[in-house]
Amino acid sequence: MKITLNPHAVPTAEREEKVANCGFGKYYTDHMVVCEWTEAGGWEEPELKPYGPITLDPATAVFHYGQEIFEGMKAYRQPDGGIALFRPEANARRFARSAQRLALPEMPEELFLETVHALVKQDAGWTPGKVGEALYIRPFMIATEVGLGVRPTNKATYLLIATPAGAYFDPSKAVSVWISTEYVRAAQGGTGEAKCGGNYAASLVAQKAAAKEGCDQVVWIDAKERKWIEEMGGMNLYFVKGKGADATVITPKLTGTLLPGITRDSILSVAKDLGYKTEEVMLSIDDWREGVTSGDISEIFACGTAAVVSPVGQAKSAMGTWVTGDGQPGPITMQIRNHLLAIQHGTTEDKHGWVQKVAL
Ligand code: PLP
Ligand code: COI
Repeated sequence: MKITLNPHAVPTAEREEKVANCGFGKYYTDHMVVCEWTEAGGWEEPELKPYGPITLDPATAVFHYGQEIFEGMKAYRQPDGGIALFRPEANARRFARSAQRLALPEMPEELFLETVHALVKQDAGWTPGKVGEALYIRPFMIATEVGLGVRPTNKATYLLIATPAGAYFDPSKAVSVWISTEYVRAAQGGTGEAKCGGNYAASLVAQKAAAKEGCDQVVWIDAKERKWIEEMGGMNLYFVKGKGADATVITPKLTGTLLPGITRDSILSVAKDLGYKTEEVMLSIDDWREGVTSGDISEIFACGTAAVVSPVGQAKSAMGTWVTGDGQPGPITMQIRNHLLAIQHGTTEDKHGWVQKVAL
């Protein structure tokens, strides 16, 4: 890897001040990684260089046809002051699958991981330390062939940036959701399983509709039958049936239209480790309404890298409004959240081998 250090890196005191008040995606670290690909020559050597603007021809493919993919992952402070990545090879694999769907080049897993380790090592000082805080890492790839013809690109640029990240949502407050029967996120054969920018562009109008209904987030249902629960905004969903040690922790099945979340996958294991039964099922809007009305569904939460675990309270839809439990974050939700965060921060045993230390 070529390394060009930033001669204008943010001074330590200013960086510490920014890290202490980081929000989400407000500040970016001193460096980024860039790696170019061409059809003729494959992947070039990546370069770690000062963070800064990139210049592109206005006719560059990505601006017109949206050929773009991204990932989102985190590096967490450890008790010994070190830093560890959480399941980065799972992000590398998903990035390759997204690339395939968007007709972009697959980046070898080792190359992806090399760039992530290099940037985290270089900009380690930007990693906040409190539980629930982390360095959020954003790898992405854009089609850089110049020309307006609609065709798979013969040139691509991979970039990697990082931002210190605090809580994405306040975990002590349940989010309210609008179940959208007007817009759909993904259909069979579409791009729902891929992490591509276009999915998010298409989601914003529904997010606006949710806000108009006074809700924090949108819940997506399936495109065909318009009744099966899929995801919430940019997060997967979980439903807790029953209470206490007999509870079953349920998540919508991956049908080909949901984004296979790494947090979702991790929680299937964590919930089992904590003694709960787990199920991946098809769950309808009626199941949701009837379940919370009868009390059979005692808790609902959403999960994703950015927010980790976020309790879901009120649900509103064209069919009415209903509330889970007392509308407050539930005990199993918070137990799973705290356990996952403890694994990520290295304060409990990592029995699945998910945590990968960064050599500083
Ligand atoms: N679903 C969507 C649509 C997402 O954008 C994300 C975020 O990355 C997730 C689910 C959660 O995935 P992960 O847990 O891998 O962050
Ligand atoms: C997530 O990590 O849950 C996300 O959806 C990331 C978001 C900022 C795109």
